[in-house]
Amino acid sequence: MASEKTLRELFHDTLKDIYFAEKKILTALPKMAKAAQSDDLKAAFEKHEAETEEQVARLEKVFAEIDAPARGKTCDAIMGIIEEGQEVMKEYKGTPALDAGLLAAAQAVEHYEIARYGTLKTWARELGLDDAAQLLEQTLGEEKKTDATLSEIAESAVNQEAEAA
Ligand SMILES: [Fe+2]
Ligand SMILES: [Fe+2]
Repeated sequence: MASEKTLRELFHDTLKDIYFAEKKILTALPKMAKAAQSDDLKAAFEKHEAETEEQVARLEKVFAEIDAPARGKTCDAIMGIIEEGQEVMKEYKGTPALDAGLLAAAQAVEHYEIARYGTLKTWARELGLDDAAQLLEQTLGEEKKTDATLSEIAESAVNQEAEAA
C-alpha cells in the first residue's frame, strides 16, 4: 500500500527530528539549570534533564522497533528555540527577569516536544507499532507534566512579585 509506506517514512523522518531535538535539549538543560536563579526552577530543569536521558533511550527503542539505526536529522525548529533561550540567558544575566525568560524558553521547548510526540504517537498507532506508541505516549506524558510544572513555577513567581509590590 503506497499510502502506508508514505506514513511510515514520515514517521521515521519525524523520529529523526525529535531524536536530534532531544539530544540538543540534553545539552541545553544543564546550562539552563546553572543559569536559573530560583531553586525550584533549577530543580525542575535538573529533574527534566534526567527524564530527557530516558526519553532518548526510549526513542532508541522506537528506532529498533522499525529496524532503523538511531540517527538524528537536523531540526531547525529546536535550534531556533534553543538559540532564543541562549540569547535570553546572555541578555538578562543578573537581572530579575532572567528566570521569567528561562521559563518562557523552556515552555517553548516543551510545547514543541508535545506537538511532535502527539503526532508520532498517533502515527505509531496507525502504523500498528503498538510498543512504539506506548513509549511515545510515556514521553508525551512527561513533557506535559514538565510544562505544567513550569507553569506553576511561573505563576508562583508572578504571585510573589505581586505580593512584594
Ligand atoms: Fe523531551
Ligand atoms: Fe521536554
